[in-house]
Order: sequence, then C-alpha cells, then structure tokens
Amino acid sequence: MKLMTTLDIIAITLLAIHFGVPLAYYYYAKTRWLPRPWNLKLDPNYQPKVTIIIPTYNEANLIQEKLDNIHMQEYPRDKLEIIIIDSASTDGTIQKIQEWIQKHPDEPIKLIQEPERRGKAHALNHALQYATGEIVIITDVDAFWPDKNTLRETVKWLSDPTVGAVSCLKQPTNPGKAGIEQGYRSYYNILRLAESKAWSTPIFHGELAAYKKHLLQEIGGFPTDIGADDSHTASIIAMRGYRAITPEEITCKEITPQKGYHIWRIRRAQHLIQHFWRTLLIKSKIPSHFKSLIYTEAYLHLVNPWMLLVATIPLIASTVKGNLLATTLLSLGVLLLIYKTYRTWITTQIYLIVATIRNTWIKDLAWEKQEKS
Ligand code: GDD
Ligand code: MN
Repeated sequence: MKLMTTLDIIAITLLAIHFGVPLAYYYYAKTRWLPRPWNLKLDPNYQPKVTIIIPTYNEANLIQEKLDNIHMQEYPRDKLEIIIIDSASTDGTIQKIQEWIQKHPDEPIKLIQEPERRGKAHALNHALQYATGEIVIITDVDAFWPDKNTLRETVKWLSDPTVGAVSCLKQPTNPGKAGIEQGYRSYYNILRLAESKAWSTPIFHGELAAYKKHLLQEIGGFPTDIGADDSHTASIIAMRGYRAITPEEITCKEITPQKGYHIWRIRRAQHLIQHFWRTLLIKSKIPSHFKSLIYTEAYLHLVNPWMLLVATIPLIASTVKGNLLATTLLSLGVLLLIYKTYRTWITTQIYLIVATIRNTWIKDLAWEKQEKS
C-alpha cells in the first residue's frame, strides 16, 4: 500500500497552512509589534464632554449593577451625559432604571424608550442624535469596568489627534465556561494589543467602545445591516486614517453566559464574519499600514477555518481505508484535544464554520438574549 496518496499530501499542506498562518501571525505580532512604543502624545488633562450610551433590551437583572458601575467613575458630572436607550424591553428594565434614577438624582441620565425593537445598532444611532458629548462611549449592560479610573483613562487616549477610537481588552468573569473563554482571550488580547501598536485593531468590543463623535457623524453612525457595530465602526474609522486602539491599561469584564454559550459564540462569530466580508467589499483605499492587518484578520476569520475542515475529510477517508499515516495524524489531532489551548482553537474554528453557514439564512441583528447572572 502507498504510504501517501495525493489527497493525503493536500490534507497535510492544508493543515500546515491552517496552523502555520495564525501561529506565524501571532509570533510576528508579538515580537515585532507588541514591543513598539505607542507613538502618541497623550494629554492627561484632556477633559472633554463625554456621552455614555447604554443600550438595553431586557436587562432588568443587571441594569442597576451596571449603573452602579458607571456611578463609581470619577469624572466631573458637568462634563458627563449618560443616555440609556431601551428598545421595548418586556421584563421590567424600565422600572429598574427609574428606580435607580430616583435614588441617584445627581447622575446626568437621559432615558429614551423606543416603541419597538430594531436591534442594537439602530438604537445606538437613535441615541447618537441626542448625544452632546465630544466623545461617545458605548457600553453593554453585561459589561463592567474594573475601577473608578476606567473612564478617565479611556478619554486620555483620545487626547491624541490621530486616535479616533478606543476599546478595552476583555476579561471574562465567571468560572465554568469561562475556562474556554479565558484561553481564547489571552491569545486574542495579545493580538489586539499588538495590532493597536502597529496601527489599529479591526476588532473592537461593545463592552467599552469610545469614539470621537465627529467621526461617528462623518461615517453616518453605526452600521445597521450587519451585526458587529463595534468592530466595523472601528475599522471604518481606521480606514479613514485614524487609529482605533485597545490599550493595555483599559480592560473590561464581561459576564460569560452559563446557558446558551455555544449559540452566543456562534452569533458573535457570525457578526465578525459579516464585518470582515463587508470590509473586503469596501472600495475606498485602505491605508497601507492597516491593509496587511485587516487582510490577515479577514483571512483568519473567513478562510482559515475551512482549511481545517477540508483537510479533515480526506484524512477520514484514508483512515477508513486503513492508511497508517492518515490514521496517525487524525488520532494525534484528537489526542491533542486534552490540551486546553488546542481545544480552544479547534472549538473557535468550529464556531466560525457554523457561523458562516448560519449567516446564509439568518443575520441575527436583533438577537435572542442569553441569561447571565
Ligand atoms: N436598545 C437595544 N435594542 N439594546 C439592545 C438590543 C436592541 O435591540 N439588543 C441588544 N441590546 C443591548 C443589550 O441589552 C446589551 O446591553 C448590549 O446591547 C449587548 O447585547 P448582548 O446580548 O450582551 O450582546 P453580546 O455581548 O453577545 O454581543 C457582542 O457582540 C455584539 C456584536 O456582535 C458585544 O460585543 C456587543 O457589544 C456587540 O454589539
Ligand atoms: Mn454581552
């Protein structure tokens, strides 16, 4: 029997690409970009008016805790505006907000109620019409800022005229599923930081996404026909020549859902895929320092997962036929699953593949809420 068939050779090549490209990108980013200085001139005394927008849809369980978290931020109240935009919640979110406002009459809060739900991005654009701040910060209800300085720190990074947008590095909170989430984050956070230093990162987080308002206005607000309001907006700003960065000092905690974790990951992967597709279709010129970055990330999200799938099929076929090499490779692929990093990687690839398929029939722009506690 032949040791290797043509199909096996193709399979091995695809696997080498699948694992090789992200590893090479990671090491390149880590060794070349990460150690770089920021090359920014920050003014710690910069204190512009800030509008914080909190979109809510059925957040009765967490909204008061979220408002407590914002309440703790040290920032002059005459320079702060908080807009809560609710899209027809049915679980008593509004009552919880009103209760909180009554107890905190000094917080400059505006509550807007939409009569129907048309999705987060739609709500953000609605709220943007009322925003009077020079800086607009979007923050999800299930996200918590680590300490009282987060807002001030975020604003500081926007004092440089070349910075258009700032987001956080994510830290998952609760145990259990957070195990997978943690592994996934340490790899991705290094990439986010390295890309930010290189120029801009094409992946932003709605847990804390800050923008210069004039840029939001110039680009026509948040995209309402794709899901990733955060990443896509940041990338468009980066394409206009401004930096969209996630500095090391700015982190945010996000509650990982215990139930519905898989669909949650798939939906978010769907939104990222929508974002990269849309970005590739943009005709305007991409600044050269952002080009390699956005193309590599687009490749990693759109193409690379499929290499793994396509390689696995001939390997399974050869294994069934009794080919020793294919059997060994496949067994190794399965055995390695005991390692968390590898398992996390494979799981992520599966989410991306399922997400691509699911995108063909549903965009999930107004998504089902995953309960968190
Ligand atoms: N007003 C309004 N209307 N708010 C909404 C709606 C809506 O239709 N849908 C969701 N929200 C609010 C939620 O209440 C929450 O505060 C925030 O938007 C994010 O919703 P999550 O349900 O927590 O979404 P996620 O964390 O899984 O989504 C992630 O990916 C999205 C894009 O793919 C986050 O990173 C989001 O920030 C991001 O928009
Ligand atoms: Mn969330």
